[in-house]
Amino acid sequence: MSNPIGSNRPATTTQTGTPIASDTHSLTVGADGPTVLHDQHLVEKIASFNRERVPERNPHAKGGGAFGEFVVTEDVSQYTRAAVFQPGATSETLIRFSSVAGEQGSPDTWRDVRGFSLRFYTTEGNLDIVGNNTPTFFLRDAIKFPDFIHSQKRLGDSGLRDADMQWDFWTLSPESAHQVTYLMGDRGLPRSWRHMNGYGSHTYSWVNAAGELFWVKYHFLAHQGVEAMSPEEAEKLAGTDADHYRRDLFQSIAQGDFPKWDLYVQIMPYDEAKDYRFNPFDLTKTISKKDYPRIKVGTLTLNRNPENFFAQIEQAGFAPGNQVPGTGISPDKMLMGRIFAYPDAQRHRIGANYNQLPVNQPHAAEVRNYQHEGSMRYQYNDAAHRTYQPNSFGPAGGPEADPAKGVEANWAADGELTRSAATLHAEDDDFGQAGTLYREVFDGEQRARFLETLTGQGRSITIDAIRERFFQYWTNVDAELGAALRDRV
Ligand code: HEM
Repeated sequence: MSNPIGSNRPATTTQTGTPIASDTHSLTVGADGPTVLHDQHLVEKIASFNRERVPERNPHAKGGGAFGEFVVTEDVSQYTRAAVFQPGATSETLIRFSSVAGEQGSPDTWRDVRGFSLRFYTTEGNLDIVGNNTPTFFLRDAIKFPDFIHSQKRLGDSGLRDADMQWDFWTLSPESAHQVTYLMGDRGLPRSWRHMNGYGSHTYSWVNAAGELFWVKYHFLAHQGVEAMSPEEAEKLAGTDADHYRRDLFQSIAQGDFPKWDLYVQIMPYDEAKDYRFNPFDLTKTISKKDYPRIKVGTLTLNRNPENFFAQIEQAGFAPGNQVPGTGISPDKMLMGRIFAYPDAQRHRIGANYNQLPVNQPHAAEVRNYQHEGSMRYQYNDAAHRTYQPNSFGPAGGPEADPAKGVEANWAADGELTRSAATLHAEDDDFGQAGTLYREVFDGEQRARFLETLTGQGRSITIDAIRERFFQYWTNVDAELGAALRDRV
């Protein structure tokens, strides 16, 4: 179709395909008169513009991502029957990196934990591992999550972020100490998204072909190495290039410099969870690599930038509940809360049928079920397909659930309904692993930077009682560290 004004470009149309006369002049009563409401294209164009934004994610609003490929290079079939992890299997992937607290336009280099959301488009449906660049988290019960995020976001009256409320919440929630130690250390300021590891963080489960269940931790180790930036550099970039990480990832992939991560897993036999020295379902703890060494699975390569950021990254709806036969969740109370949280957030944020969008629908498996209709429904079953089951119309009437295919990772649970903390294991406490991280994992330079960062944090607290709890919190992690902070702040 040629353009009426003579260029060789195709004609612009309305959303319903009718060629329009002008994208420059509204329809008015005479050249200087009022604009008329029946200018259908003007109204449609502005109405569409008014609806361009969907609510941003709460939390993890600022991020970026890319597509890639995961290749299994080893044989872990004795632990899982999932097709995606069988020897030689190759799957398309989608990743989204993010910051937790900041809004859509916030600087990438504000100190924060970074999200590492990975989707595998497998032949058995989508598998999502929605993790972070740390192996732990601030909390161990989902019921505290909204309070935690509120303390990291903005004050109700001024709309400002506030050190007092962050440290108020953390010091009143001692289980946060391990993750705050990671956050105030080098991992709080990665050099780029390419220079950080990814962790599933929670203990998940795997089921093998014989039906045996194992507990599993996912670790994605960066080929690029784990590198941090200095607080000075981060502060400067926050002002000069707020999109530093987003730009770095997009440019690297555009230039053919494809970032890679090796997936390793820690595997714990089912029966060993009960008596392990740390409760493996407590997200504030790691499982020691000495007790459960890392086993390699395969390699993830990011090799394709999104063609459209909004359609493919902003509208991506990752969910820890997206598991496949041979993988599953665990009794971690945070993970259980997350199974509800993500699809609920996405029905609100994107829309009821968000899983039909190209980025969210399975790419290597089919969708077959009796769900239908709802806002913006795009896919539908053919006419013979019934809208209910059981039905007597044979294969044309629709699919049938098959326990042999829908393998679930189920575990033994028994007890009264109760509201209480999870059972403590032999070495469980709030501060022990944080102290080990500070003394044994950080080297001398990292400890020095950590002290510097915490000194700044302590100085930014304006309420004496909170500052006092800040000193006590770090004294509980390490007595010398606490004393040094009291001295310097
Ligand atoms: C009970 C605790 C938690 C709740 C209720 C929760 C809730 C949420 C919600 C509602 C979103 C926005 C989802 C969306 O709109 O698409 C989100 C995003 C995210 N959360 Fe959580 N979260 C929890 C814990 C965690 C933990 C422990 C991790 C990491 C180990 C994590 C990592 C992420 C990441 C990476 C994203 C961004 C997802 C994306 O890239 O689209 N969250 N969370």
